[in-house]
Amino acid sequence: MADKTYPWKIAWITGASGAICGEVARRLADAGVQVAATARHSERLDALAASSPNIKSFPADVQDIDGLKACAAQVTAELGPIDLALLGAGIYVPFDIRNIDAGGFGETMALNVDGVLNGVGAVLPAMLERGEGHLAIMGSLFGYAGWPGNGGYGASKAAVINLAESLKLELWGTGVDLTLINPGFVDTPLNASYDPEKKLFVISKERCARKILAKLPKRPYEIAFPPQVEIFLKTVRNLPRAVSFPLVRWFIKATGA
Ligand SMILES: NC(=O)c1ccc[n+]([C@@H]2O[C@H](COP(=O)([O-])OP(=O)(O)OC[C@H]3O[C@@H](n4cnc5c(N)ncnc54)[C@H](OP(=O)(O)O)[C@@H]3O)[C@@H](O)[C@H]2O)c1
Repeated sequence: MADKTYPWKIAWITGASGAICGEVARRLADAGVQVAATARHSERLDALAASSPNIKSFPADVQDIDGLKACAAQVTAELGPIDLALLGAGIYVPFDIRNIDAGGFGETMALNVDGVLNGVGAVLPAMLERGEGHLAIMGSLFGYAGWPGNGGYGASKAAVINLAESLKLELWGTGVDLTLINPGFVDTPLNASYDPEKKLFVISKERCARKILAKLPKRPYEIAFPPQVEIFLKTVRNLPRAVSFPLVRWFIKATGA
């Protein structure tokens, strides 16, 4: 039976077979929210669905716009109107200036940006028609500032942050809310290729999910953590570049990040 921990009845989650969104899916399901779990078909997605009677799998590729629309329509037909859409499918591809990987860059943009946009397009018309709904988009604090090794991922998350700002302004007064979720480093397979020495202030997927769900029901514009990384990167973003570039270079030298 649904408890009253969360204000949503039906949550659609993309990237649900992954570390962060899988953890959020399990916590929502435990509290009685009906979770529609989307990722490409995999044993991980099946295992998630098998873990709770409140989780049902709806496999789809977020890069297939028509398939994703059909997926959202199927969720609505089987479970009911989508109250919360958490758009979390994403990848990190390393960026090496001596060996530019245009394919990896394109893949990153296609999944992290187009995949989010496709998700928005799949649910927003129905939410606007109902005059209610909640979009939650996974960004990253690294979308606020350029960082060595992050050329593709950072660019994709900067695009997501800008997209979220535009959407938020346009959604004003429609009854549909938007939350941008910007974590720092979370210990997940996504960043397994990243040098562990350079991951500062890493948190676990469990802590990440707890932090997201502690604030998401209040429908804020942004949920960002940990505070050390948030303050540093937002300060860097707002400083004149003549100050921010030396500051980042100094920080990297001092911390080994
Ligand atoms: N980990 C971090 O440090 C961190 C920090 C800030 C923000 N984030 C963001 O948080 C989100 C989740 O990250 P995570 O670390 O939990 O990643 P993860 O464990 O690697 O999960 C990624 C998810 O995306 C899904 N996915 C990948 N390609 C897909 C496609 N074409 N269609 C549908 N689903 C697809 C994956 O499933 P399949 O591959 O099976 O389809 C998986 O469910 C991402 O947007 C990430 O950028 C992560």
